[in-house]
Amino acid sequence: MSKNTNKIDFYDDANHDYRDFWVGRDYEHNAEVVAFNKLLNKRNYKVAMDYGGGYGRITPILLDHADKVILVDPSIKQLEIAKEKLDSKRVEFLRQDKKDNVPAADNSLDLLVMIRVSHHLPDPNPVFTEIARSLKPGGEAIIEIASEAHFINRLRYLKQLKAVPKEPVPVGVHANGKEDDTPFVNHNPKTIERQLKQVNLNVIDKLSVSNLRHKVFKDHLPQSAMIAFERAAQRPLSHLNFGPSIFLLVKKS
Ligand SMILES: C[S@@+](CC[C@H](N)C(=O)[O-])C[C@H]1O[C@@H](n2cnc3c(N)ncnc32)[C@H](O)[C@@H]1O
Repeated sequence: MSKNTNKIDFYDDANHDYRDFWVGRDYEHNAEVVAFNKLLNKRNYKVAMDYGGGYGRITPILLDHADKVILVDPSIKQLEIAKEKLDSKRVEFLRQDKKDNVPAADNSLDLLVMIRVSHHLPDPNPVFTEIARSLKPGGEAIIEIASEAHFINRLRYLKQLKAVPKEPVPVGVHANGKEDDTPFVNHNPKTIERQLKQVNLNVIDKLSVSNLRHKVFKDHLPQSAMIAFERAAQRPLSHLNFGPSIFLLVKKS
C-alpha cells in the first residue's frame, strides 16, 4: 500500500467543486447530523477541531457543542469557501501544511472530529498518533470510517467466497475523472478499532450511518422516513457494521 503523499490536488482543482458532491445528498448529510447529536448528546466542549473540515459543512454542528472550533484543511480552496460561509468569531481557520499533522499543541483539544477523511488515508496510523497526542487526557474524537465491510459489500465478498480484507482497499474514480495524488480507500472497521486502541484511543460509542444509501431507497422512500429510520437504527446496526459509514466516538485514556 502506497504512503500518503503531500500533494493534495483534488480539493484544490479549479474544475471540481466539492460542494457539488452534496447536491442531492441531503439524506446523507442529515443522517450525519443525527449521528453527531447522538454521539455528542448535548455535551459542550471548550476547544474542538474539525480536522479535514473542507468547506466547513460540519463546522456549524460543532459550533452548537463547542466554545471554539478550529477548522483545519490542507486545501486552500476549501478554506477560502469556508471563510466566506462561516461568519463566526468562534471559528479559527488553519491550513494544514504537513500531511498527517494535527496542528495543535500536546494535550490541548477537548474534541476532534474527522469526517469523510479516512477515505483519503491509506495509512491512518500517523494521523491517529497525532490525534492521541493533541487531545487532552479524557478528550474525545469522532472518527468516521469509510467502510469496506458494509452489508452489501459483505454479500459481494461472500459470493466470491472471500473475506473482507483487513487492509485498506483502493476504491472509486475521481469525480473530475483526473488522475492526481489523492488516494481513495475504504477501511475495515475492525482494523481501525484495533489501530485506535494501540494509541490509547478507546471506542466508547459507535454508530452505523447512512444505512439506506441505496438508489432503491432514495428513489422510493420519503426522506423523513429515512431519517426516522436512521434515528432508530444507527446504534443497533453498528453492532453489525451494517452501513457504509461508521462513526466511532473514542476517548483518550
Ligand atoms: C471528503 S472531504 C470532507 C470534508 C468535511 N470533513 C466534510 O465532511 O464535509 C475531505 C477533506 O479532507 C481533506 N484531506 C484530504 N487528505 C487529507 C489528509 N491527508 N489529511 C487531512 N485532510 C485531508 C481534503 O482537503 C478535504 O477537504
